Amino acid sequence: MNGRVMLRSVFGCLRTNPVSCQRNMSQSSLAGKIAIVTASTDGIGLAAAQALGKRGAHVVVSSRRQANVDKAVALLQSQSITVTGTTCNVGKEEDREKLVQLTLDQCGGIDILVSNAAVNPFFGNIMDSTEGVWDKILSVNVTSAFLMTKLVVPHMTKRGGGNVVFVSSVAGYQPMQALGPYSVSKTALLGLTRALAPELAQSNIRVNCVAPGVIKTKFSSALTGSEDIMDEFKKHMSIKRVGEPEEIGGVIAFLCSEDASYITGETITVTGGIGCRL
Ligand SMILES: NC(=O)c1ccc[n+]([C@@H]2O[C@H](COP(=O)([O-])OP(=O)(O)OC[C@H]3O[C@@H](n4cnc5c(N)ncnc54)[C@H](OP(=O)(O)O)[C@@H]3O)[C@@H](O)[C@H]2O)c1
Repeated sequence: MNGRVMLRSVFGCLRTNPVSCQRNMSQSSLAGKIAIVTASTDGIGLAAAQALGKRGAHVVVSSRRQANVDKAVALLQSQSITVTGTTCNVGKEEDREKLVQLTLDQCGGIDILVSNAAVNPFFGNIMDSTEGVWDKILSVNVTSAFLMTKLVVPHMTKRGGGNVVFVSSVAGYQPMQALGPYSVSKTALLGLTRALAPELAQSNIRVNCVAPGVIKTKFSSALTGSEDIMDEFKKHMSIKRVGEPEEIGGVIAFLCSEDASYITGETITVTGGIGCRL
């Protein structure tokens, strides 16, 4: 086949490929989608809710404190985002069930879960961490992420598919000193993503993960507030600044959109270029 004939046949194939035919400019739109984002009244969760909402999704925001929920709902409404809010401590079974039921009652279904909640009650030498610390960290950061997924999957399946995004961390690739148990919990989310993806692909549900680097939020203030620690981090960054929550929110929205229709079981690192490998 000469070059011109080959090109014609490739373009002919693209024209007749049903997937490429379905593509249009609105594939990043999330209009009509219902999205639960956990721990979404501040930081990365709030930015994810904003990014999903700006693309047309009805977002359900939650966190432990009602005052924080009220503030986030008011902010999102002021940005013309359709939003429902409730309290939910993801570590509590009754709260997880309430969040899902309220979403079904008030929004009529579930298409997207962003599992963003995490705790870190321990700083120090990993050898000083106790069973209580490990139980708390693994239960909130990993087990609850799985149990939330298990709760929403039947409802996504009813709607013909959906998207789950876990929020891991650069620490999941390279454990941070003084944050040993937290880092291990974030590595577990990389495994959870891969374990769930083939299972849920059968139900047309994609499962992906984002691993942020150092992002400017309350959670990271102990790091970002220290010039010495940040100088050390910057040595490993190509983009020599702290990230903004919106820079994670946009990637999460991308993963939930049709733009990412062939991506599952993947973790996208968003670290300003910090090298990440297991
Ligand atoms: N910031 C970073 O540099 C960075 C880097 C890598 C990964 N991450 C990950 O990003 C995620 C979000 O962190 P962030 O930095 O955005 O934190 P953040 O700005 O401090 O926000 C934390 C949010 O979580 C809520 N929350 C805390 N515990 C909760 C629980 N048990 N159940 C439900 N909601 C809870 C808080 O509200 P209430 O107090 O009202 O509950 C708040 O809305 C975490 O998974 C974290 O590990 C962050």
